[in-house]
Amino acid sequence: MWIEHNREITEAMISFDQLIAGRRSIRKYKAIVPPEEQIMQMVACAAMAPSPSNSQPVRFIKIQSKIIKAALQESLEAGYHKILGSIEGEKNTKRLRNRIHVYKRYSDFIFAAPVLIAVGVVDDYSGFSKILNQAGVLEKDFRAFIDLDISVGLALKGFILKAESLGMGTCIVSAPLVFIEHIESILGLTGISVRCLVTLGYPDEIPSHIERKNAKEIYQVIS
Ligand SMILES: Cc1cc2nc3c(=O)[nH]c(=O)nc-3n(C[C@H](O)[C@H](O)[C@H](O)COP(=O)(O)O)c2cc1C
Repeated sequence: MWIEHNREITEAMISFDQLIAGRRSIRKYKAIVPPEEQIMQMVACAAMAPSPSNSQPVRFIKIQSKIIKAALQESLEAGYHKILGSIEGEKNTKRLRNRIHVYKRYSDFIFAAPVLIAVGVVDDYSGFSKILNQAGVLEKDFRAFIDLDISVGLALKGFILKAESLGMGTCIVSAPLVFIEHIESILGLTGISVRCLVTLGYPDEIPSHIERKNAKEIYQVIS
């Protein structure tokens, strides 16, 4: 019994490690739409994430409307040209322009993805530092952004790993939000601030190898 239980745990750990190690950002997808029940399973995993005082501030908004996607694309183009226009005459213009082109390329693919989801946080989140700020004890609600961003990251981790376990690929994207102005109003959202987007679908590419830091490089003990 004990051996069986331990073997199960070991197998679960191996598959967890494989899941983590095998996941890559996918930017090219097959033209197959993932089933809604499986997307709901990913969102259910995201919902299990820890959050400050169990406040659960993260929201997932699937953008299905072609009209809204077209409006986002139009806004992205407009923002891109606006930013390009604003750097004329600046120092290092060529280098900056190249960077802008790269981030534009790393934004455009989202419109070809079978599923595009905005990930946001509720505006009425009230963490410990906000309570103290409102009580006049703290000058600034300095933790709010950190707490919310950590919550988004943790929810996304559940979402993308569940996608991976179901044979799908994802890519978290924030670059488009630099170009797109007022994404919330384009999406018709009230009371939610969009923090990033995530694409989803069946992979149609094998990303090239990238280096990761090993555990020793990102871990230290202060004794
Ligand atoms: C917060 C965040 C923002 C990101 N923004 C973009 C983006 O705008 N466009 C993009 O193509 N990839 C984006 N990525 C994906 C990263 O480029 C990718 O995770 C990183 O290069 C490591 O590659 P991997 O995910 O394949 O392991 C983002 C990832 C994170 C976590």
